[in-house]
Amino acid sequence: MRNLKNKIHKQKFSEAEKKKSFSGKLLRWHKKNGRTFPWKETNDVYKIWLSEIILQQTRVEQGLPYYLKFIELFPTVQHLSAASEEKVMKAWQGLGYYSRARNLHSASKYIANELNGVFPNNYEGWLKVKGVGAYTAAAISSFAFNLPHAVVDGNVYRALSRYFGIKTPIDSSGGKKIFSSLANELLDKKNAAAFNQAIMDFGATLCKPVSPDCDRCPFNTDCISLKKNLIDFLPVKEKKTKITERFFHFFIVKTAKGFLFEKRNGNDIWKGLNQFPVIEREKFLSDSELKKTPEYKNIFTENKISLTRSKEFHQLLTHQIIRARFYQTEISTYSGNKFLVVSKSQLMNRAVPKLIDQYLKTVYFGGTKKTNTIK
Ligand code: ADE
Repeated sequence: MRNLKNKIHKQKFSEAEKKKSFSGKLLRWHKKNGRTFPWKETNDVYKIWLSEIILQQTRVEQGLPYYLKFIELFPTVQHLSAASEEKVMKAWQGLGYYSRARNLHSASKYIANELNGVFPNNYEGWLKVKGVGAYTAAAISSFAFNLPHAVVDGNVYRALSRYFGIKTPIDSSGGKKIFSSLANELLDKKNAAAFNQAIMDFGATLCKPVSPDCDRCPFNTDCISLKKNLIDFLPVKEKKTKITERFFHFFIVKTAKGFLFEKRNGNDIWKGLNQFPVIEREKFLSDSELKKTPEYKNIFTENKISLTRSKEFHQLLTHQIIRARFYQTEISTYSGNKFLVVSKSQLMNRAVPKLIDQYLKTVYFGGTKKTNTIK
């Protein structure tokens, strides 16, 4: 650390020199320290596109097994476009941000059917594909075609704001323009693919959000935020994210023919996934409160139902904490028409939120002791 402090005090590069030497330093660092991933070793546009959709808002360690599973289940865009929505959603189960899977599937049909299986070969063409925004279009067109478009994601905001000491909020429209034009100015236009992969790897492994590895950083002699002790304060965000808490009461109702089930619709989390009948409120309801709700009366027509309540499960999403309790019961028949009735094997083949999957695997079919019987 002492050495590092000495080096910082000897900074001598101007802003223009820093910009000019940026890509060379980055690419040299990457040659020795870059990570190896299967999507880096291929020119197959389908695989590159798939990897970029999976890696949006997802860490590589989490995304990699999903990438391998998708390649195995759907080796080409034609396989993906011909698959049922249920199969695609099931394969995506647990990865979150499910609109990515719906968009990927719908885009595969567009490419297979309307573009006759021919992928766009430029940035603008990719922007027309569902689920592909500026970041993903830049990633795909550089990785697959080496076109000169700089990616600007969280890694890039962090690395550039720290190295150049930029305090403009990254979520302001002015900030977005500043970072995008700086990234494109720094981009090595002849080596766009390598540059983009390098800056992502740099942000993910060295210039990390917490405890960055400044000792080993090739930019540590002239990093403004290191010199001014601003590492922990950059990048700046304008809006604080508000976290909401939601309370779900799920009902596992087993009939002689199977379980009550439904697909989640509407503009909300888990759209397109399946669930058990649910009652959502701003807090957990007591058992007697639950029984008085209109939703409860939609599920159960009889009065005397014996329910067994699970412990609380929770799942952390980006802006929400979902808390859930599961109530299980058996009835002889279901006479309503709001819910589907599915067998155990159908149930296990459908995509459900991670929280429900966890409950089914650990408690309902997993044998953990059930709790609290409610009359
Ligand atoms: N995140 C998004 N795209 C990525 C890539 N190609 N490599 C590593 N992380 C990524």
